[in-house]
Amino acid sequence: MKTIVVFILCAGLAVACSSRGKWESFSGDPVIEHKVDSVLKLMTWEEKIGQMTQYSADWDITGPVMKSDWETYLKKGLVGSVFNTVTVDGVRKLQDMALSQSRLKIPVLFAYDVIHGFRTIFPIPLAESCSWEPELMKRTASIAATEAAAEGICWTFAPMVDVARDARWGRVMEGAGEDPWYGSQVAIARVQGFQGDSWKDLRKINTVLACAKHFVAYGASEGGRDYNTVDVSRRSLYETYFPPFYAAEKAGVATFMTAFNEVDGVPATANKYLYTDVLRNEWKFKGFVVTDYTAVNELVPHGIAANEREAAMKAVNAGIDMDMNGNVFIRNLPQLLKDRKIKKSEIDRAVRSILEMKFLLGLFDDPYRYLDSTREKNTIMRPEFLQVAREAGRKSIVLLKNKNKIFPIEPNKPQTVALIGPLVKDKINLNGEWAGRGNREQSVSLYEGFTEVYKDSKVILTYAPGCDLTTEDRSGFGEAMDVAANADVILAVMGEDFNWSGEAASRTDIRLPGVQRELLQELVKLGKPVGLVLMNGRPLDLSWEDEHVDGIMEAWYLGTMAGYSVADVVSGNHNPSGCLTMSFPRSVGQLPLYYNHKNTGRPVEPENPGADYRSFYLDSPNTPLYPFGYGLSYTSFDIRNMQMNTNVLRPDGEIKVSAVVANNGERDGEVVVQLYIRDIAGSVTRPVKELRGFRKVFLSKGDSVTVEFSITPETIAMYNLDMKYVAEPGEFKVWIAVNAEDNRNEGNFTYRK
Ligand code: BGC
Repeated sequence: MKTIVVFILCAGLAVACSSRGKWESFSGDPVIEHKVDSVLKLMTWEEKIGQMTQYSADWDITGPVMKSDWETYLKKGLVGSVFNTVTVDGVRKLQDMALSQSRLKIPVLFAYDVIHGFRTIFPIPLAESCSWEPELMKRTASIAATEAAAEGICWTFAPMVDVARDARWGRVMEGAGEDPWYGSQVAIARVQGFQGDSWKDLRKINTVLACAKHFVAYGASEGGRDYNTVDVSRRSLYETYFPPFYAAEKAGVATFMTAFNEVDGVPATANKYLYTDVLRNEWKFKGFVVTDYTAVNELVPHGIAANEREAAMKAVNAGIDMDMNGNVFIRNLPQLLKDRKIKKSEIDRAVRSILEMKFLLGLFDDPYRYLDSTREKNTIMRPEFLQVAREAGRKSIVLLKNKNKIFPIEPNKPQTVALIGPLVKDKINLNGEWAGRGNREQSVSLYEGFTEVYKDSKVILTYAPGCDLTTEDRSGFGEAMDVAANADVILAVMGEDFNWSGEAASRTDIRLPGVQRELLQELVKLGKPVGLVLMNGRPLDLSWEDEHVDGIMEAWYLGTMAGYSVADVVSGNHNPSGCLTMSFPRSVGQLPLYYNHKNTGRPVEPENPGADYRSFYLDSPNTPLYPFGYGLSYTSFDIRNMQMNTNVLRPDGEIKVSAVVANNGERDGEVVVQLYIRDIAGSVTRPVKELRGFRKVFLSKGDSVTVEFSITPETIAMYNLDMKYVAEPGEFKVWIAVNAEDNRNEGNFTYRK
């Protein structure tokens, strides 16, 4: 039996000390500073303000369309960055325009939302986070960067690292779920995937600048309604919403994006506390901050600026460097400067950091960054990229229920499988939202995947769509029932329209939309085994499904190779190992819902759950339907024999905690072993559980391994009453578990000074 030692990355904001998160900082590189100075000296104030201006080229629309004369500005050298244009020709045309007609010929930075792939589309980020494989996420980000860079993109508006705890909010699909610690690991992986491991990698042709967005607390919007008001304490910023941003900063992220929401009464885009006090002064961020789309203009309806002039002034004075498509900086900053409403030093600081990035990318040496159509053609959708997409897809799938082992549907068992549902042959939805330049028609449908994987097998596949995703149209029910009635197994393939998650896609009802559940109810009445494959962008309310269907497989939107990935898992070619990174509620009424909640003064008593005057719902348990960290496998794992080398932790000490993990099922498989802690009594209240480590372990059937974690004072550090990041003496609990509700292996320790 082997022993695997897991070194726990540092907790919370202390992720900085993790060797994995450390980026070789460029700041202060004398050669680059010298070059930046030499350009700055040549610039007029108008040209400097131009660098702080970004326009959408409108090839793609990602926000309200604004009228502007951006091409004229571009020719005059008054645009720092353009986004929403792609292709070698598109980028070259605009760069030519900027270089040939402007006075100083400063290259433009081309940006795009490369969120989960550019041409090869990978699983949506929420899905991919369920793989619990940071290396895989780094790889897919790196491929996305490679493809985007081949089309002239030098900057992606990703990763989105907003902690998200409310499934009504459509943007949960863009992030890594509800946990700040896990979200930090994912943030580091994605930043390094896009940018490389050192600033020197930015000179390579296959990297792009990354952007940590949306700073901050966007995921806490009231009622899960997009763009809505946020009211969080400074403590929850530090404990919950900051950590993934801090981790991204320490991993070297080049840029930050503001959030649309307000924080403590001040919209993020005018929030000096966030960008100057925290980001620059406390965290020492050296990159630049771009607003979200027209977020400076939105300071007016927010009610914090009487007009756009005042909005521009507040944004710059808060520490914002670039105006995304608002057309506000360029029109107002020159006069504000003359009127001494903003400082020249603020403008210089902003422009300096923007130019620095352009130098780091090598744009002053080659403004086209090796742009070439042959390279473009040879780079995009390479077979090895598609292979990674298929792999990432398989690893993102979470098996939620598997009664009577309905999954896998074995290829060598003679049986007819009825594929029923609106997503069986669908291609359009598979890429999900924010799917870069992915060609939706090129995605492999589930039907195509199944046909390929089950060819030469004993399985006969039949099909009927039954209904569509959103309407009340029941005219296909009859055909679907006929097809299902003649099958041995029914596999329903259902979910959400891809537009129903992502930006401006909040829902108040998170059940399967349209008449899909109704169709499922009819199918269940046939009395045959029913499996459900889901494709959606948020945790759904699956209470009815959980009670009535035999198997549920959460397949999210898996991208270009979706159909193959699902077929690999359904057929058993790949044993699922994905685990949820967001809790699935029993009903929308429980939201927001997350495992690391506080205990309250009146928690439900486990030994007397019905006791009155406790913090519960009359009509639902408090617990989720499927908890954070949960996911089934085709084999089974046992975790036992938890051991601790000591129960006392000292300031310079360490506790080794281990457990034996055994594969006692019928197949080889992988399991995500998770380490949770609880601080029993602190100077401030602590969550009932906090993830502090994990390890994904492969075990052949019959094998076992000892997994060991190391607990140090860093593991238990928290923000004390004075907001100091310290380890407080006291009693702690620790668990080695397979999900946040698994309490089988529990230990105690004391931290003593
Ligand atoms: C979104 C950002 C995105 C930007 C540019 C905004 O509406 O909130 O996440 O990066 O548009 O497309």
